[in-house]
Amino acid sequence: MILDAFALTDRVAVITGASQGIGEAIAVAMAEAGARVVLSSRTRGRLEEVADRIAGFGGRSLIVEADVTDRSGHERIVKETLSQWGRIDILVNNAGINRRNLPEDFLEEDWDVVVDTNLKGPFFLTQRVGREMIRQQYGKIVHIASLASITGLPNIPAYTAAKGGIGALTYQLAIQWAKHNINVNSICPGYILTALTTGIHESERGEYIRNRVAMGRWGAPKDIAGTAVFLASAASDYLTGQLIVVDGGWMAGG
Ligand SMILES: NC(=O)c1ccc[n+]([C@@H]2O[C@H](COP(=O)([O-])OP(=O)(O)OC[C@H]3O[C@@H](n4cnc5c(N)ncnc54)[C@H](OP(=O)(O)O)[C@@H]3O)[C@@H](O)[C@H]2O)c1
Repeated sequence: MILDAFALTDRVAVITGASQGIGEAIAVAMAEAGARVVLSSRTRGRLEEVADRIAGFGGRSLIVEADVTDRSGHERIVKETLSQWGRIDILVNNAGINRRNLPEDFLEEDWDVVVDTNLKGPFFLTQRVGREMIRQQYGKIVHIASLASITGLPNIPAYTAAKGGIGALTYQLAIQWAKHNINVNSICPGYILTALTTGIHESERGEYIRNRVAMGRWGAPKDIAGTAVFLASAASDYLTGQLIVVDGGWMAGG
């Protein structure tokens, strides 16, 4: 039955940046779909709140506090997940940050922290988890990329380089790991109201964005969750190497 193909029953899903925003929404949705979810970020307190939310509907979760820029954190995510549940079926590379400035004024330290968090960290976590997926001959990798992966947006040169890199890596990993039964895709969210975007949302540009989006509203984190569940499920088994835009119609024009 087709709806069964969308279920994640007993799958093990690692979600980085699961303490809030889009990552929290994806973690909750995957747990609702039946997955056992590994909630990772740097802040245990918030992760515990998300774990409580999941336990509230009978879902199963494991907290692994880790910084995505830290290779020892990657190792801990893999070791603790394997020791609890013995496999990793799904990886959602969601943790991300941003720094805003004109390209002509952009600071090297801002470049480094954004590229380390949004590109280098996710690549090496993917490499580590990918080794387990190759051993299993099964895996679903979902990167949370951005509209900045595919179009120019103001004042975010490092974020654009990192998210462009994640978009390009989606193709590279997809062709390389398809033979291991590993799907690699990205979601490019449009403007989603989270802690990351509150500043813009409340500025003059926030109103411009609302008017420019065909659907006439900013997205909510749960607007991304359905596509993430789909890309992690058997319903998307023949889909790999794609950047899926979920943006309320921003890229459609306007
Ligand atoms: N909001 C949007 O409009 C939008 C649009 C396109 C793409 N995105 C992407 O969607 C993803 C989630 O963003 P969001 O809007 O949900 O932002 P958010 O609410 O600020 O959440 C970011 C998450 O990343 C985690 N994180 C940040 N740095 C980390 C690090 N070094 N190690 C581990 N975890 C780290 C944070 O947790 P801790 O602080 O607890 O570590 C938090 O859980 C990001 O990759 C972002 O670029 C967002």
